[in-house]
Amino acid sequence: RKPVTLPRLLEMHAGGEKIAMLTCYDASFAHVLDEAGVDVMLVGDSLGNVLHGASSTVAVSMDSMLYHTRSVARGSNKAWIVGDLPFDSYHASKEEAWKNAAELFKLGAHMVKLEGGGWTNETVRFITERGIPVCAHLGFTPQTVTSLGGFKVQGRSEAGAALLKRHAQELVEAGAQMLVLEMVPAALAKEITESLPIPVIGIGAGVGCSGQVLVLHDMLGISHGRHPRFVRNFMEGSSSIQQAVRRYVEEVKAGTFPVDAVHGF
Ligand code: KIV
Ligand code: NA
Repeated sequence: RKPVTLPRLLEMHAGGEKIAMLTCYDASFAHVLDEAGVDVMLVGDSLGNVLHGASSTVAVSMDSMLYHTRSVARGSNKAWIVGDLPFDSYHASKEEAWKNAAELFKLGAHMVKLEGGGWTNETVRFITERGIPVCAHLGFTPQTVTSLGGFKVQGRSEAGAALLKRHAQELVEAGAQMLVLEMVPAALAKEITESLPIPVIGIGAGVGCSGQVLVLHDMLGISHGRHPRFVRNFMEGSSSIQQAVRRYVEEVKAGTFPVDAVHGF
């Protein structure tokens, strides 16, 4: 398998070949995911929840993101690596956002991800024009769970759907080259995916996206607490972690995971 590149991801989106993405936080798992054919690894700020035991992602530091990004980059040589910009690392100014994006990039992230639409356009343009690819994240955005009033599906109302579509379009115009859609009605996510020239990766956003992402610990059945309906435990029926990850990749590629009636909104 050749290393995954940006042109390859764009080609997969254009050709309807599904993209399998999982979060990853260390070198051992990075190696397992790489061997299993995972296309994209996200060093997610969900590490605040699954590694640190925090109830939200807002307290995750740049230092934590740098530490885990370096580990994942060392353990992988095929997958495309996305590093999350944590809360308060890209909010104050586009210059500060660039500095933090560059730190992740220097340690091996191929792309950085940031949450939100509208106010992020300028930042995305600033970072991408200077040579670091950006993945946007719309729909339910965990860093703003407080202002969103809880874990809620986004884009359900007509106005909400219109805003989501506008934000997605603007982010593409600003230079974003991938988009994560979280907890969005499947029909809306499918419409957005078909209208954009960049891969759209869904989590709780239906099977009509260009690909899927799950939190690694959720799909291995080892995360505690609340389990959203879009999670499936791939260790059920698997005899090893390697097999569970391979089955996830196979099911995403085949379009048999997720099932909208079961995992969707
Ligand atoms: O941090 C994370 O795990 C994420 C995914 C849920 C998309 O941002
Ligand atoms: Na995240």
